[in-house]
Amino acid sequence: MQLQTIILAAGQGTRMRSATPKVLHKIGGTPLLEHVYRLARQLGGQEINVVYGHGGEQVLSALSDLQVRWTEQTERLGTGHAVMQVADRISDANKVLILYGDVPLLRLKTVQKLIQHVGPQSLGLLTIRLDNPSGYGRIVRDSQGKVVRIVEEKDASNEQRAIGEVNTGILAVPGAKLKEWLGRLNNDNAQGEYYLTDIIALAVEDGFYVDTTQPDEESEVLGINNRAQLAQLERLYQLRHAEDLMDKGVTLRDPARFDLRGDIEALGQDVEIDVNVVLQGRIRLGNRVKIGPNVLISDSEIGDGVEILANSVIENAQIGAGGRIGPFARIRPESVLAEDVHIGNFVEIKKTTVGQGSKINHLSYVGDARVGAGVNIGAGTITCNYDGANKHLTVIEDGAFIGSDTQLVAPVTVGRNATLGAGTTLTKDAPADTLTLSRAKQASISGWQRPVKKRT
Ligand code: UD1
Ligand code: CA
Repeated sequence: MQLQTIILAAGQGTRMRSATPKVLHKIGGTPLLEHVYRLARQLGGQEINVVYGHGGEQVLSALSDLQVRWTEQTERLGTGHAVMQVADRISDANKVLILYGDVPLLRLKTVQKLIQHVGPQSLGLLTIRLDNPSGYGRIVRDSQGKVVRIVEEKDASNEQRAIGEVNTGILAVPGAKLKEWLGRLNNDNAQGEYYLTDIIALAVEDGFYVDTTQPDEESEVLGINNRAQLAQLERLYQLRHAEDLMDKGVTLRDPARFDLRGDIEALGQDVEIDVNVVLQGRIRLGNRVKIGPNVLISDSEIGDGVEILANSVIENAQIGAGGRIGPFARIRPESVLAEDVHIGNFVEIKKTTVGQGSKINHLSYVGDARVGAGVNIGAGTITCNYDGANKHLTVIEDGAFIGSDTQLVAPVTVGRNATLGAGTTLTKDAPADTLTLSRAKQASISGWQRPVKKRT
């Protein structure tokens, strides 16, 4: 039996009080629906169907990359009605897995266990025991403990409401039977909805065995209906990733103050991460990388032994092995730093390559530049890369020494081992192995008097 997944995502999400459809709200930087999609992808199998509704156009355009078959549910007439929208896509021979687009933390292992329970005469149902089951459908069992039906809270007797075992909504059933049971659903209930949960009683009527499975953790089946739950699941998600990183040998100074909004694609040994670090997008960390407090890194590769000091921001860059960045440094996109480069406080680097061992230690802006190896750039150096219309390149060759408070008016080249005197405004190329400086002659006026305030 092949696997086919149906993700229900047509819910309105009124309680989010948002112009953004609920399933586009993010956990760990990824839309809720995409988390569920990734899980479905990991399971493999055939088609992934998504039933969408509220804010449809926004959902389709935000998630156009997902390889799914989208089906709109124009009226929201219940979970059974939602599945009916894709009934003609269901193959008789498939196992059909139903997931919710607003339940993002479900684990692969749990679902794999669930789908194993589907057979010619059995289906899999994910249930959980809750201290407070209110709001959920209750699992009704007979005297032998066999599941006989699910009763929704609004249709339940007082006795049924006391049942602590609830329906998570996640289930797996044989395709042919699902189609048949969908055809037999009615909306004769307290909410006037077509309940998907009613297929359980129909299955039992047909002699099916309802095989229940439980998740390892409650967080796996928690759904999101409001901002408080969004925040709660964000923390649970982050803690899960923090624990995973620690398992892999990372030192996290405080796992409660770490945020991953993307993927760590490569991870070296003995990485140390201080508090309030946010890692975003696609990140690669080498061996012994040390990240100080309050650091944001997006889509970057950090080499072996790099130390990133407090309050630095690194975006779409490569930091070569042995580098030292910050505190208070900003490395902007398309910057590539070779080995052992030092970038110090209040330095901004943009679209620049820096050669091995070069140092830009204080208060500088270096953008659209090619900096060679062994270069020292003094405090307050600015590449004047923009003429108001176009960006121009600054080239600083190996071994150059740039004095403090220098402006390099691009396009301009500083030759190998050249020295620029402090305060130079460089508008023409500086020759190699030569001192170049532009500086008004210093004068001292003796006998000069400070102006004094006039008396009236
Ligand atoms: C449903 C179950 C309930 C279970 C609970 C778990 C039914 C009738 N009840 O409750 O037994 O305990 O989930 O959270 O199935 N959706 C649509 N179209 C619709 C209605 C819902 O796509 O017309 C989607 C929602 O986006 C959501 C999911 O289905 O992802 C569940 O809907 P929701 O309204 O939250 O669940 P309930 O019906 O309250
Ligand atoms: Ca719900």
